[in-house]
Amino acid sequence: MSKSLRLPEKINVLLLGTGGREHALAWKMKQSPRLGQLWVEAGANAGILEIGKVCPEPTSGDVFRLGQWCDRESVNLVVIGPEGPLSEGLATKLAAPHRQVFGPSKEAARLEWDKAFAKQVMRHGSVPTADSKVFTDLEQARTFALTRTDGCVVKATGLCAGKGVIICNNATEALAAIDLFLVQKAFGDAGSTILIEEKLGGAEMSVIALTDGRSFTILDPAQDHKRVGDGDTGPNTGGMGAFSPTPNASKELLHLIYRDVFIPTIDAMKRLEIPFRGVLYAGIMLTPAGPKVLEFNTRFGDPETQPTMARLKSDILSLLWATTTGNLAEVDAEFDSRAACCTMVCSKGYPGAFVKGLPITGMGEARAIERGPREDIVLFHSGTCRGKGGEVLTNGGRVIGVTALAGTVARAAELSRAAAAKIKFEGAFYRTDIGVG
Ligand code: AMP
Ligand code: GLY
Repeated sequence: MSKSLRLPEKINVLLLGTGGREHALAWKMKQSPRLGQLWVEAGANAGILEIGKVCPEPTSGDVFRLGQWCDRESVNLVVIGPEGPLSEGLATKLAAPHRQVFGPSKEAARLEWDKAFAKQVMRHGSVPTADSKVFTDLEQARTFALTRTDGCVVKATGLCAGKGVIICNNATEALAAIDLFLVQKAFGDAGSTILIEEKLGGAEMSVIALTDGRSFTILDPAQDHKRVGDGDTGPNTGGMGAFSPTPNASKELLHLIYRDVFIPTIDAMKRLEIPFRGVLYAGIMLTPAGPKVLEFNTRFGDPETQPTMARLKSDILSLLWATTTGNLAEVDAEFDSRAACCTMVCSKGYPGAFVKGLPITGMGEARAIERGPREDIVLFHSGTCRGKGGEVLTNGGRVIGVTALAGTVARAAELSRAAAAKIKFEGAFYRTDIGVG
């Protein structure tokens, strides 16, 4: 797949992040002939800890010390999974002439951690997105909301773990949303500046691209299911499951998104003298007027990464290395023709309060479920840890992403659901319609 990319013989990796997305990345890295030592965080889930060796240094706080440790262990690639460390500038702080860091700088990651900035960049680049206005002043926000009688969307501009967006059907609901952000300060500083934007309608899709600031590799799109309940009901979550490929993503549509979203966004960033290298994830709504951007993330999606890595045939380390070194044009991303579907088994109460530390059984049965010769099951851990006796325990709201590979999305969905039913812990639940219809 690599045309003329020059890679080190062996790549020693430090992977930052502790959840399902990082388990999927670690699982894929483990298959690379280029992988030297994989280092992971002490707090990583039980699945990641099976693959990597624990980095003995704290991974937040004293970055200088972490950098020195990376030097001693000849870590030549740091991969940053979550948005938190990106927004704190870890990518720039850990970069060195002899070490690549996968993940954008703090300034570039601002496309995710400051939605008002993202809107400004989109305006500069004429990228199609919902019309919006920024407010910090309560009275001005209220006055504007009263004119939005057909509804609007009120968003916190900062990072709120997917919870800072309120869809309002009328002005009364908008006033309540404004109150939540600016008076009750439900999201603290992250919600002290808000966007009030036009409410769009249409099917949603997530398009995730790698970019080295010049070239792009658009990954086969995956679609997640954000609401907690079957039939897209109940509150929003981090994502209850995802599947790939997606039926809406024709070659023509992806080309349109490449031309009208990715290229002008990166060009607008260049004009601001903010080079972007890493993952650019566009949340898109397919409106009657064409695709429009709902939001940008500057990292891989969770759980979109689980079916995406399950289907990726190309070497992940070559792709990450090419992205960080500005050589993405030298590498192609190839995907398995099979479909993948990931059903997230969750803790009772999620996305609200839940208990941790419950023993999990049935993983062997889930892996061994009856299936055809070209069908597979992979269990990606999310919130899990090991108990004193080595048993696997729950340690989060989203616990295990049961991922199936099969000839069609419908068959992969059926298999992933059947395998998810084998995973047992007190109060375990999952959506039964991931990848259906
Ligand atoms: P975001 O975090 O900005 O992607 O928003 C989370 C979810 O809110 C999206 O996946 C959409 O379902 C919905 N949403 C966000 N912005 C809009 C909008 N302008 N119109 C309609 N729905 C929206
Ligand atoms: N699954 C949505 C996200 O990662 O933001």
